[in-house]
Amino acid sequence: MKTEILNALFAADFQRAGKLLTAGELVAVPTETVYGLAADAGNPEAVAKIFAAKQRPRNHPLITHIGSIEQLSLWVKEIPDWVSPLADAFWPGPLTLIFERHPSVSDVITGGLPSIGVRMPDHPVLLSLLQQFDIAVAAPSANPYQKLSPTSAAQVLSGLDGKIAAVLDGGNCGVGTESTILRVGEDKAEILRSGPLSAEDLQPYLPVPVITPQSHHQAVSGNKKVHYQPNAKVVICPTPTFAATLAAEPETTGALVYSSSLHGINCRQRLILPCDHQGYSQALYASLHALDGKGVHKLLVEAPPLLPSWADIWDRLSRAAAESAPAA
Ligand code: TXA
Ligand code: MG
Repeated sequence: MKTEILNALFAADFQRAGKLLTAGELVAVPTETVYGLAADAGNPEAVAKIFAAKQRPRNHPLITHIGSIEQLSLWVKEIPDWVSPLADAFWPGPLTLIFERHPSVSDVITGGLPSIGVRMPDHPVLLSLLQQFDIAVAAPSANPYQKLSPTSAAQVLSGLDGKIAAVLDGGNCGVGTESTILRVGEDKAEILRSGPLSAEDLQPYLPVPVITPQSHHQAVSGNKKVHYQPNAKVVICPTPTFAATLAAEPETTGALVYSSSLHGINCRQRLILPCDHQGYSQALYASLHALDGKGVHKLLVEAPPLLPSWADIWDRLSRAAAESAPAA
């Protein structure tokens, strides 16, 4: 299959993306977090193509993306009272909420689970696509299974060229890491995947305490130990010992740092990230993709700050650094 490269700035390209989606094809679309691999959520055959293109196990559920709050009732069994304050505060935005699914929702989307993850993405291109074509899309991150999520159209193509009908280029993603996933229960709300919105951000809008469990259900693919992996072998190293570690390991050809004390460090491929959380998140995946592009085999990553607000970055980096489990 030849993958069409569409530019969201051109009306004809935008219309073409909508036509492909409504015809049951896969289109990679920009969101504020990462690019998503979208299929019409109302068309189970279209959704099934996502698993083939990504080589993703069929029991890993997908997030459904809606373009307006009115669409929510099509996908969930009932709208609980706790939704309004969260949706008013954070939608459109990087927050995925878990609901009991509507009886009409296909098993293909939920991986057979009785629940469904829904979010309203905060990207003008995708929001207008959903609104103008009056559809919702099921969309995982637009990368091959267990690889790095893409934050640009070029990164989508590096993993999925020839496997999907089109990519709609809407520029670089502003947030840069995947949405926070929240499941609200009777007595607690659980963060199933850390993301741009922290427990502290969410708590004021919830009637129950927000907790972050240490281990999660296997079906949350973003919670598998090996995930978000670049080709390079990633090693996380604290700031004070970074320079000595690098010097002791001549086979390390890449360094990813943010502290000013390490800006001048001597390494063949050195990338400097912003030291604020927002800037760091936005650039992280793009930097890892770029270092892969330079053929870096071993990458030393400066340990991020040990602060609750950096939990999402720790989560992504430790999965990038995880060794593959031996085949069972
Ligand atoms: O920011 C994002 O969330 C991006 C963009 C494209 O929206 N999407 C994304 O999708 O990261 P994906 O498939 O790579 O990760 C979705 C995560 C998976 O870990 C999946 O297991 C979890 O959401 N998930 C989906 N439905 C669920 C459900 N009903 N219960 C628990 N977890 C669910
Ligand atoms: Mg993903």
